[in-house]
Amino acid sequence: MSPEPVLPEPVLQVSGLEVVLGRGARRRRVLDDVALHVSAGEIVGLVGETGSGKSTLARAVLGLVPVARGVVRVAGRETQALRGAARRAHRREGHVQYVFQDPLRSFDPDRTVGDSVGEPLAVRGGGLARREIADAVARRFADVQLDPALASRLPGELSGGQRQRAAVARALITDPRVVILDEPVSALDAANRVRVLELLTVLRGAGVALLYISHDLGSVAGITDRTAVLYDGRIVETAPSHRLIREPQHPYSRLLVGSAPTLTGAGLDRAERARLRAELADTAR
Ligand SMILES: Nc1ncnc2c1ncn2[C@@H]1O[C@H](COP(=O)(O)OP(=O)(O)O)[C@@H](O)[C@H]1O
Ligand SMILES: [Mg+2]
Repeated sequence: MSPEPVLPEPVLQVSGLEVVLGRGARRRRVLDDVALHVSAGEIVGLVGETGSGKSTLARAVLGLVPVARGVVRVAGRETQALRGAARRAHRREGHVQYVFQDPLRSFDPDRTVGDSVGEPLAVRGGGLARREIADAVARRFADVQLDPALASRLPGELSGGQRQRAAVARALITDPRVVILDEPVSALDAANRVRVLELLTVLRGAGVALLYISHDLGSVAGITDRTAVLYDGRIVETAPSHRLIREPQHPYSRLLVGSAPTLTGAGLDRAERARLRAELADTAR
């Protein structure tokens, strides 16, 4: 077997991450001792069923939820400890960008798409002229293969696929080191899925560290280098994606692989599924 390629120092490093959310009786530990790393030009998948904590992990990396314990390091800098003005300054720099499942959430309905795509540059300051921002927006539109004429439209006038490509353009505008895509194609039809997924190659080529979140291992496996499996707030397995599909180790990973017909063809029979569920129950925290 060929050795795994040697990658540079990870751009995103998460270790020992614990996140506790909710108040009173609803207070619960959503993430428990989570570790993950992504290097420049690498695409890492994060899979797990709804409620497993995927979006919370993304929000913790973005500094949007409090971190109870552990470290989030972006480009060598510990970000979980930043507070107040330092944290706002870090966010404005835009080293980490996020693409939502629903591209409408990335856009103000009353502003032109071009204005929204350029907004992260405008708020970052640094004295960029309107003309320079417009030029940067045009370059990003070209990167994501969007007609530059769409910049003057409102988000409601674009198709879902065009909007999601514009959301990727917006995520790229600050030259981020890390881009997190949270179920980016779930709301799109098959043709638009393919077009958005093709953009991952553009991002990879630009040296971005990509974290690709999905509840569907079948859709993740073909496009990611490695995949981390999140179950009930814990990463139960991380492996090169091709190996995870062939030889899943943890019972939950085996269930995910067995439940993705595009991966296995046949899927698991009922007895095998029940056996894995029972094994899984034994691992519950
Ligand atoms: N603000 C919050 N307060 C309390 N619980 C929350 C909050 N946000 C998320 N959760 C809980 O955390 C768990 C993980 O949610 P989430 O990260 O959205 O999962 P996923 O993205 O994998 O579907 C869920 O059980 C959810 O109910
Ligand atoms: Mg989610």
